[in-house]
Amino acid sequence: MPVTAVIGGQWGDEGKGKIVDALSSGADIVARYQGGANAGHTVIINDKTFILHQIPSGILHENVRCVLGHGMVIDPVSLIDEIDSLHGNGIDTTGRILLSTHAHIVTPLHRAMDRATGQVIGTTGRGIGLAYSDKARRLGIRAVDLIDAGSLGDYIRKRLKLAIDQGEITEAELPALKDDIEQFLHASNKLLEYLADTVSVMLEAIARGDSILIEGAQGTLLDVDLGTYPYVTSSSASASGIAAGLGIPARSVDRLIGIFKAYATRVGNGPFPTELEDRTGEQLQNSGAEFGATTGRPRRCGWFDAVAARYACRTNGIDEIYLSKLDVLEKFDSLKICTGYRWNGEMINDFSAAVHKLDKMEPIYEELPGWGAGVSQLTDANDLPDQAKTYIARIEELLEVPVSHVSIGAERSQILKR
Ligand code: IMP
Repeated sequence: MPVTAVIGGQWGDEGKGKIVDALSSGADIVARYQGGANAGHTVIINDKTFILHQIPSGILHENVRCVLGHGMVIDPVSLIDEIDSLHGNGIDTTGRILLSTHAHIVTPLHRAMDRATGQVIGTTGRGIGLAYSDKARRLGIRAVDLIDAGSLGDYIRKRLKLAIDQGEITEAELPALKDDIEQFLHASNKLLEYLADTVSVMLEAIARGDSILIEGAQGTLLDVDLGTYPYVTSSSASASGIAAGLGIPARSVDRLIGIFKAYATRVGNGPFPTELEDRTGEQLQNSGAEFGATTGRPRRCGWFDAVAARYACRTNGIDEIYLSKLDVLEKFDSLKICTGYRWNGEMINDFSAAVHKLDKMEPIYEELPGWGAGVSQLTDANDLPDQAKTYIARIEELLEVPVSHVSIGAERSQILKR
């Protein structure tokens, strides 16, 4: 099918990078539509680890063109670093990175303000929320504005003055920002060669029937509208952001894949009903190497929450599920799946009814047997132990969506089709 989208079904970090990379072989275009350098997509190829923040994971396949859509917020310094690091690893990006002229730009001021105010939410400190906030306040700059260096300098000066006038930063912070601004102006100039009218690129590719893969960053439960507000990121991380963030019709997506981890994780603050703040949580964290790809922060871990996952399936319209990190669960003799919440003596099965008071939800669990070691060596899904098949089947039943693939290790090859 020509247009496939891959969306995170939980709080991000579901393993989208690896799956997008696997699906990218044979794609003409891989496109991102939201978020920015807050994302961290890890792909391991022949023991070499690539962590991509803004460039879609498709860049690791030589014939794929990568679109950074206008719904993204782009940090020039970080993007140039990422491009340099790809070049350093022998990856030729010539003509393969297309940055929307209308993507908004993250400036050093946004990063400084995020570092100063982001602790309550536990943001990544990458200036994402502040850049989206400037976009909504009609104070932002877009990639196209980087062309005129004089106007860009004027903009930075005016925005800094406004930030001081409005108490967003103090004058004392200005000297520390000076070097960052120099670096920003330098990187901004280097980005000019990547600017493109990505709306036309996408529309023409769709009209030709090209094979297009759309890559979501973060996850549905971090979506600014559908997620656990205010503990969310500032963009539409669910499928709802695709049309607006790329400038394509909402009906363009033919196949929507939801990526779910076989358990749950969350990085940053906010409610997490199935969180395990005990030895089991720690075991999940260590076995799953649950440390953020962007910030290195430890991820909070817990059991699979089928109430939340079902909501993600229904709101996105997910057609099929890739269940990742199944191998991590082999350390456990028995596993739990949350099938409902209890609140005030009431049973709640609908996440949408619970999302604004999620911290008060007590999870109701169903217990299933574990399956022991050896899953990561398999090459055929039919050989999965019966207990693993039962676990997957129960998830399918609760979510009412088929699990088409399971991922059983970090390598590109460790994905089994069912
Ligand atoms: P921000 O996106 O940096 O503003 O952070 C807002 C919330 O989203 C925080 O809880 C972050 O930890 C979380 N977040 C942002 N990007 C990611 C991601 O790529 N994976 C997981 N969590 C993320």
